[in-house]
Amino acid sequence: MNLIENISLKPYNTFQIDVSAKYFLEFTNIDELEEILNSTVYKENKSLIIGGGSNLLLCKNFDGVILKNSIKGISIIKETENHIYVKANAGESWHEFVMYCIENNFAGVENLSLIPGCVGASPMQNIGAYGVEIKDVLHEVEALNIPTNQLEYFNNEDCKFGYRESIFKNTHKDKYIITSVVFCLNKKAILNISYGAIKDELAKKQIQNPNIKDISDAVIAIRSSKLPDPKILGNAGSFFKNPEIDEISFKEFHEANPTAPYYELTNNISEKQYKIPAGWLIEQCGWKGKVIGNTGSHKDQALVLVNYGNAEGEEIYQLALAIQQSVKEKFNITISPEVNIYR
Ligand code: EPU
Repeated sequence: MNLIENISLKPYNTFQIDVSAKYFLEFTNIDELEEILNSTVYKENKSLIIGGGSNLLLCKNFDGVILKNSIKGISIIKETENHIYVKANAGESWHEFVMYCIENNFAGVENLSLIPGCVGASPMQNIGAYGVEIKDVLHEVEALNIPTNQLEYFNNEDCKFGYRESIFKNTHKDKYIITSVVFCLNKKAILNISYGAIKDELAKKQIQNPNIKDISDAVIAIRSSKLPDPKILGNAGSFFKNPEIDEISFKEFHEANPTAPYYELTNNISEKQYKIPAGWLIEQCGWKGKVIGNTGSHKDQALVLVNYGNAEGEEIYQLALAIQQSVKEKFNITISPEVNIYR
């Protein structure tokens, strides 16, 4: 156990906020994790578990112990006629895992290329992009129950996935540390090219019969053109979730804003729900591309808040509040952060 004191967290959060942590401990296997959980420093301090730090806004120094999950390794655990079950440990980079799948022709995660962060965080908020969510391919999550120190296993249903939601963000928050995830991938690709931008990208390259590598390349091209690279410009991807509203609110909204994009949600048949892109709402409020001090809403994607250099977490948080308020005033719609905020 290598205890580091007073460390800058700048390299550990993609917003690149320069706050410090009182203590920092990294673990590379379950034995090391158990040793940490039994240690005095862990028991006597508050703690925060991080992976890639890609969905995190730190507003002040962390007066406790940061636990960095660096359990690495990818292995095939089972194979059937049509499927391959791949186990990835929580500290693996998500994108590198996707690249491993593409190289080996394991289909199902190609639409999720270039998402920042680690495998362990992917089930927490059911990461998703371009028509695919992790719940579509997740077989099982292995997680350490902190109070009992026992490993537990959650199948897809147990995880109670929703839009950027899972049991690990709700009832099980702070009670479990995800150690690995098993994905059920397809040997014969079932491509999802429903998303317009993917179709456009493939047409641009004149690809008529795409394979998973073509889809992955298209997604990488789309993301690179619209989303800032967190290594260059600090950000945490979409700052807010796209709001979901009921039919009555939607009718009112649609009448007042007939050209606004929207998606009808089909998962709840008894009560119709509509999703409105938060990026559109924020842009309509005049925030897109606006620079305020060291922060702002990105010029190509209003939903992404960025750190132009030396932003403090609190500055970004205050911007988020102002954006939230103006969307509420203009559209009477509440947008909620997707990012975890510590202040
Ligand atoms: N839009 C605007 N202005 C903007 C941004 C978007 O009008 O500044 C409009 C677009 O024209 C489009 C709609 O909003 O009609 C949706 O935009 P986009 O396709 O860029 O997707 P999004 O809804 O803004 C979501 C995810 C992204 C994911 C993309 C692609 C959330 C919160 N975000 O963004 O995920 O990559 O779809 O599937 O659901 C993330 O979660 O960090 C993330 C980047």
